[in-house]
Amino acid sequence: MPIYILGIESSCDDTSAAVIRDNVILSNIIANQQVHSSFGGVVPELASRAHQQNIIPVIHEAIKQAGISKSDLGAVAFTRGPGLLGSLLVGTSFAKAFAFAMDIPLIEIDHMQAHILAHFIQNENGTKRVPAFPFLCLTVSGGHTQIVKVNNYFEMQVIGRTIDDAAGEAFDKAAKIMGLPYPGGPLVDKFGKEGDPLKFKFSKPVISGLDYSFSGLKTSFLYFLRDRLKEDSGFIEENKADLCASIQHAIVSTLIQKLLLAVKQTGITQVAIAGGVSANSALRKSMNDLEEAGKITAFIPEFSYSTDNAAMIAIAGYYRFLSGEFGNLSMSPYSRSGT
Ligand code: KG4
Ligand code: ZN
Repeated sequence: MPIYILGIESSCDDTSAAVIRDNVILSNIIANQQVHSSFGGVVPELASRAHQQNIIPVIHEAIKQAGISKSDLGAVAFTRGPGLLGSLLVGTSFAKAFAFAMDIPLIEIDHMQAHILAHFIQNENGTKRVPAFPFLCLTVSGGHTQIVKVNNYFEMQVIGRTIDDAAGEAFDKAAKIMGLPYPGGPLVDKFGKEGDPLKFKFSKPVISGLDYSFSGLKTSFLYFLRDRLKEDSGFIEENKADLCASIQHAIVSTLIQKLLLAVKQTGITQVAIAGGVSANSALRKSMNDLEEAGKITAFIPEFSYSTDNAAMIAIAGYYRFLSGEFGNLSMSPYSRSGT
């Protein structure tokens, strides 16, 4: 008998629901919130209100597209944290009420672990190549930048992390400095495709070990543009493609450099990327190039499983279900992870 699990994600500004049958995704519905773009970042209060509006229609659609009825569901998995508390409360409260009403188990999921476990989503014929334990995963999103040694589905060790800004934040802040709307990461990627990645150089951080730092790069970019704009007020518009390609190159090459150091230190050559920034075309290309050069075996998530989605919550829920780890109705969300 297959198990059907409903996954719910509401940690930031995407309301998402997915249905999984064992390890195969049947539906993955995502409602993005456009309301934040003019504010230059996610406004927590607006995010939780939008989740309230979206959650019922999104879940309804996920169950409908999966071609099942809600009574077929054997469990509900939800993101407990990390993320914005007001946003997490919407998904958590819904999941609890749903589990109680349907009398099915409730499964709590850590958002960052779920980004990694998205690599285990299978296709219908079970032919998708998945990483073997232990593997390394560069987990890069708007709030996190970590190199994780993944020993098992839920045994993960953070061996490197950012000491200040996350990589996604670095993309978004650079975009904001150029006057682009939030979230700027995808736009930097888009405009950078036409540009020269080596045209402009920015000072890169020198941090020991496997840790990262991106705040100095942001400041260097800000001062560089401030000086150029004094000479030519049209500098950003005239050089948009080269600026985007160059800042993207600076961020991606920093990410890859430490990832390769982690490969060297651990001797692990199975390497994955996960999280919103894993959608970045330059990062994906670098991973493919490293695989072609025989340095690593690369695991790159499908685009729809890179940025926030509930399919990853559903697959993580499936593995928790198999291990019999269930939550209870007194659980409350957490904003920061313990890892
Ligand atoms: O994982 P995610 O969807 O949400 C968080 O958990 O934070 O990641 C969002 C981040 C944002 O900073 C966004 O700008 C970045 O991922 N991002 C990208 C791209 N797509 C999303 N950054 C660079 N290039 C992209 N193509
Ligand atoms: Zn995320």
